[in-house]
Amino acid sequence: MYKVLISDKLGQAGLDLLEQQDDVHYDMKTGLNKEELIAIMPEYDALIIRSGTRPDADIIAAGTKLKAIGRAGIGVDNIDLAAATKHKVIVMNTPRANSIATAEQTMALMLASSRYTAISHSSVAAGKWERSKFVGVELHSKTLGIIGFGYIGRLVAQRAQAFGMTVIAYDPYVSSEVGQEMNVQLVELAELLPQADYISLHTIVTPETTKMINAEALSQMKSNAILINVARGKLIDEDALAAALSNGTIAGAGLDVYFSEPPENNPLIGLPNVTHTPHLGASSKEAQRAVGEQIAQQVVDVLRGNPAQHQVNPF
Ligand code: MLT
Repeated sequence: MYKVLISDKLGQAGLDLLEQQDDVHYDMKTGLNKEELIAIMPEYDALIIRSGTRPDADIIAAGTKLKAIGRAGIGVDNIDLAAATKHKVIVMNTPRANSIATAEQTMALMLASSRYTAISHSSVAAGKWERSKFVGVELHSKTLGIIGFGYIGRLVAQRAQAFGMTVIAYDPYVSSEVGQEMNVQLVELAELLPQADYISLHTIVTPETTKMINAEALSQMKSNAILINVARGKLIDEDALAAALSNGTIAGAGLDVYFSEPPENNPLIGLPNVTHTPHLGASSKEAQRAVGEQIAQQVVDVLRGNPAQHQVNPF
């Protein structure tokens, strides 16, 4: 019997799939701290996580029987990939299962940041009726600059075009032909920053992209620019962004992700021109069903000696 530990909340569809396997037993134990996790790791053949659990080198080394780590979602920045590879632990994710949810959350934050949705909601809820205070701007005829033109970036481009936006993108790994097919011009970052009315981040965190939105980048943006981040908080220098939002360098931001989560002593929280959500990009029922099912199936496949569909640390 293969034993699987699920240490973050997983959608019911994934649990049902594991339940149906005769050779798999799972335990769902959420909210464990590092020591508690290390203590039970030797029992398990596989670990399924979302973004809450951070399997570092100690946790992975404690998994003496561990063969697989399944990440129900896209980002694997919470996993020590080098340690997993060293211990021959296959790491897998579900790269497309929550992409539509993330693209839709991006559009939601673009619209909410443009039309004062959150702040005017609070005003009405407080018994006020301040119509002239909340005159927003339209997406139509504006330029959206997408940083990171992978699958999610392209879904966002399609949706923005349906709103009548011109879309430009920066991605050093994508050819201009890919952009042409979608009527999106691929440009250098230095061209994108001063042209875009909206800038949306859809890239992964690497040493090159960490804090790529810093004081220097912000100073090149338009004063009406609205920055959207549904990717990862570490892409932004939050002190620099808070300063830029407070002194009028840019107009607003819609943020779903933060440098550390949940954010503590974060200079962005509570600024009047920021719309916040608590890392909800992948939090649709459809996406959670899909990530749960897909990661459960992949873990079962790997435990039975079959190849993983989306292995992120090939060896
Ligand atoms: C992802 O990487 O899949 C999303 O950010 C959602 C999550 O962290 O679970």
